[in-house]
Amino acid sequence: MEIKAIRGFNDILPDEIGKWQFVEKTAREVFEGFGFTEIRIPILERTELFSRGIGEATDIVEKEMYTFADRSGNSLTLRPEATASMARAYLEHQLYNYDSMAKLYCMGPMFRYERPQKGRYRQFYQIDSEVFGVENPMVDAELIIMLIHFLKTVGLDKLELQVNTLGDRTCRPKYREGLKKYLEGKAFQLCEDCKRRIETNPLRVLDCKVETCKQAIADAPKVTDFICSECQKHFDSVKEYLGAAGLSYIINPRMVRGLDYYTRTAFEVVSYQLGSQNAVAGGGRYDNLFQEIGGKEIPGIGFAIGMERLISLLPEGKEFSKYPDLFVAALGEAPFKEASRIVNQLHLEGVRAELDYEGKSLKSQMRRADKLKARYTLILGEEELKRGKAVVRNMGTKSQEEIPIGNLLDIVKQKIL
Ligand code: HAM
Repeated sequence: MEIKAIRGFNDILPDEIGKWQFVEKTAREVFEGFGFTEIRIPILERTELFSRGIGEATDIVEKEMYTFADRSGNSLTLRPEATASMARAYLEHQLYNYDSMAKLYCMGPMFRYERPQKGRYRQFYQIDSEVFGVENPMVDAELIIMLIHFLKTVGLDKLELQVNTLGDRTCRPKYREGLKKYLEGKAFQLCEDCKRRIETNPLRVLDCKVETCKQAIADAPKVTDFICSECQKHFDSVKEYLGAAGLSYIINPRMVRGLDYYTRTAFEVVSYQLGSQNAVAGGGRYDNLFQEIGGKEIPGIGFAIGMERLISLLPEGKEFSKYPDLFVAALGEAPFKEASRIVNQLHLEGVRAELDYEGKSLKSQMRRADKLKARYTLILGEEELKRGKAVVRNMGTKSQEEIPIGNLLDIVKQKIL
């Protein structure tokens, strides 16, 4: 039986990779321009990092983690997100000793056992940015400005920025209670999961996609009805900074985000071209996460972009693939040896050069050069070689000229590099 990839796990094939590399390269350039530095974290962590960090009563921890015991019986989990791991690394290596503020980004695969559909996979890639150590709302806005700037730089517009505040340890419990009371009166309309959530995590009900639950929450109290003055002040400042930067946004009081660590600012960037999985990026502030995972009281804020969703939105028509700069077509034994020498030399100079290894006819070599979309072809025959010459053909314009092989490198550099 032919072995296939696991459901929800995708291969990224050579003809798609150009887009991925473009997005990753742009992210590095933009984020580093904003003062962020890359950090690489492990794919496996101790399970309690996520259960404590993300929250026991979230969907991710309750039913979506890839958790298993290793050979020594330790419970390990494939990371479902990067924030908790980045916070762990920051604490473990005491990065706060170097500077009380850290601006970090990372990219790579995350794993969630969700039901796969378009835009939702079990292995998916995120680009993640975090700022640790600053409570000032100016940073919330700066991070959102960077996110929008990045999305515009890769060519995405027609996006909607949604913001909300989720309160803090003072006011969120009051909201939770108010919401709980409201939901108890609507329990008959709620799905089984949401009935359970009334007790365990009533805010999650606001996130439910089931139609009857959506109807049930239509008149639910809003977090802004319960917000304390400190949180309100923080939220007002964030909005003011966003306005000053010329960013348009809408306030979505129903946005609660799927992870429990959030406090105060929460935001999502959605695209109505994406169907039901419409969030391209999401993030927010999490001033209690560090304490939850056993550290100091350190504020943090960040976001993650879903790469598959972002890539599916990239504008058509832009060319991302890489093609050979030069295809060397050789006919006969001596020309073939010379072709091999030339190609090796060009590779060392950073020229994408290809040749035929199978002694095929000139016609079939030219066909392959065409198929590979080579920009130029160098044709080497016995006759030309004896005269120290070769023919260069521009595959686009079809024009060709004879050149001395001795000058090939200079000519190629001039034409191609
Ligand atoms: P999240 O909202 O769970 O947040 O994920 C962020 C983004 O990852 C989503 O908006 C979506 O584009 C993408 N994503 C999530 N799950 C899937 C999936 N199963 N398949 C494809 N794409 C997916 C977080 O993960 C937080 N750690 C973000 C954050 C960073 N908050 C603060 N700092």
